[in-house]
Amino acid sequence: MNSRIAVVTGGLGAIGLATCRALAQANFKVIAADLHASQSRWDDIQMSMKNLNIHFEPVDVSDFSQCASFVQQVESLHGPISVLVNNAGITRDGVLKKMEPADWDAVISVNLTSVFNLCRQVVDGMSERGYGRIVNISSIIGQTGQFGQSNYAAAKSGMHGFTMSLAREVARKGITVNSVSPGYIKSAMTDAVPQELRDQILASVPVGRIGQPDDIARAVAFLCAEESSYLTGVNLPVNGGLFISF
Ligand SMILES: NC(=O)c1ccc[n+]([C@@H]2O[C@H](COP(=O)([O-])OP(=O)(O)OC[C@H]3O[C@@H](n4cnc5c(N)ncnc54)[C@H](O)[C@@H]3O)[C@@H](O)[C@H]2O)c1
Repeated sequence: MNSRIAVVTGGLGAIGLATCRALAQANFKVIAADLHASQSRWDDIQMSMKNLNIHFEPVDVSDFSQCASFVQQVESLHGPISVLVNNAGITRDGVLKKMEPADWDAVISVNLTSVFNLCRQVVDGMSERGYGRIVNISSIIGQTGQFGQSNYAAAKSGMHGFTMSLAREVARKGITVNSVSPGYIKSAMTDAVPQELRDQILASVPVGRIGQPDDIARAVAFLCAEESSYLTGVNLPVNGGLFISF
């Protein structure tokens, strides 16, 4: 039985929870890492997960020293981390001429600096053990840009530059590093988009529906499989066909 440890940041969000479930179903012991969870929220989540092997550990991924303590805590409680899914993310939208430095900094810290903060902690151990899977959840917005999202687009395309560089650094150590770029996925993030814009988005998706968190979770689980060892440095678009061209 596979009892490797997988950490999923933003593990209590829409895509995060679906990814925790998919990895637990693939026999990983999963650590859902997120800002905080009340006992009652965590109890509800565990009920819905039907006793899958998923545990919660709090962390603010934008804080380097918290990430260091978090990794120490997880590895002493559960064992060495073999899989890291950097999924935590936020948006603070606004056109550039109105964007406050705090909105820029928050989005870069949570979406991009977090990837450095956690990879920096786990990559030595993975290299020593000769095995690791790192998946960074980027976004279609990092590939296309979006009006009012210069901070988010910069963070998300920065993530893939990071992915390709780290993939090269660790390719001979049995570690793969990949990005997944979701299109428009049902979540609190997309529920906040105005209805008119959501209708326009839906009309543009060739498969004719908004994605579900499980659509992303399946792609992540595929990249995290031991058998996916020849796939590294890629940015996998999971967007319902938005990039099909004529
Ligand atoms: N929903 C979409 O359409 C979509 C599309 C493309 C990319 N993405 C990306 O997918 C990822 C997950 O998005 P989602 O839709 O599930 O959003 P979500 O808001 O449901 O989940 C995000 C999670 O990240 C956590 N988080 C925020 N700041 C954190 C911090 N500092 N430390 C630790 N955890 C923190 C939140 O508490 C939340 O649980 C994000 O990186 C997002 O940018 C989402």
